[in-house]
Amino acid sequence: MKEFDVLTIFPELIECYLIHGVIGKALNKGLAEVKIHNLRDFTSDKHKKVDDSPYGGGAGMVMQIESFYNVINYIKSDGQPRKVVLLSPQGRVFSQKVAQEFYNENQELVLVCGRYEGIDERIKNIIDEEISIGDYIISGGELAALVIIDSIVRLIPGALGDESSAKEDSFMRGFLDYPQYTRPEEFNGMRVPNVLLSGDHKKIALWRKKEALRNTLQKRPDLLKNLSNEEMQILKELCSEINRNILGVHDESVYN
Ligand SMILES: C[S@@+](CC[C@H](N)C(=O)[O-])C[C@H]1O[C@@H](n2cnc3c(N)ncnc32)[C@H](O)[C@@H]1O
Repeated sequence: MKEFDVLTIFPELIECYLIHGVIGKALNKGLAEVKIHNLRDFTSDKHKKVDDSPYGGGAGMVMQIESFYNVINYIKSDGQPRKVVLLSPQGRVFSQKVAQEFYNENQELVLVCGRYEGIDERIKNIIDEEISIGDYIISGGELAALVIIDSIVRLIPGALGDESSAKEDSFMRGFLDYPQYTRPEEFNGMRVPNVLLSGDHKKIALWRKKEALRNTLQKRPDLLKNLSNEEMQILKELCSEINRNILGVHDESVYN
């Protein structure tokens, strides 16, 4: 079972996400557990205040270290191995690879959510790593913690209805997912590609591989590394197809 601890001043933000969908089901099945700790329960301030104005002046409030220190000590008191991750725009950027890395590590993940202008810098002495979910600023670490929990729980065998769907997701194989279609066959003149209605599973698999590579070539060419011989061959075909299209030569026979 994968275990997470979330340290936050807004427990309800985490709770409401965790009861729905894939994550809700995985938690119900006991595949993962998320313990939410309200930082206000770990302060000695009689008004449960966990922030104060910054030394040196300036805008906004800064979260004090005390409640973080107390809750991390409390969590660690059972001696189990844990990785303490501070959600911060200044950290290592999260990706599918980092999700896999955290999943593989056999230890509980403690996710520390900041708010306001951030947390007293001395927090760095009691965390193991800073993780960012991208080069932008959001108002608190809760969304970032949920992104991390969600992406890791999806990797747990049994968390998804169909195991193969995770394997085919974008980034799992080093490139983006293929285009998906569902009913109706035609909508406002837009048709589902014929090959998907053919019932020919070999042709469909080839089409999906090719379209996944096309997607990646068009949207994220930087991901196209370490391709197999078959993938390289498909990529070459795609490039000549694109060249032919640029020159205005259309080959309708490719999948018919
Ligand atoms: C408004 S932000 C503070 C940003 C801080 N002043 C800075 O520029 O580094 C408040 C909290 O949101 C979270 N946060 C904001 N952006 C994030 C990001 N890109 N990734 C992870 N956490 C983020 C962090 O926990 C942060 O302490």
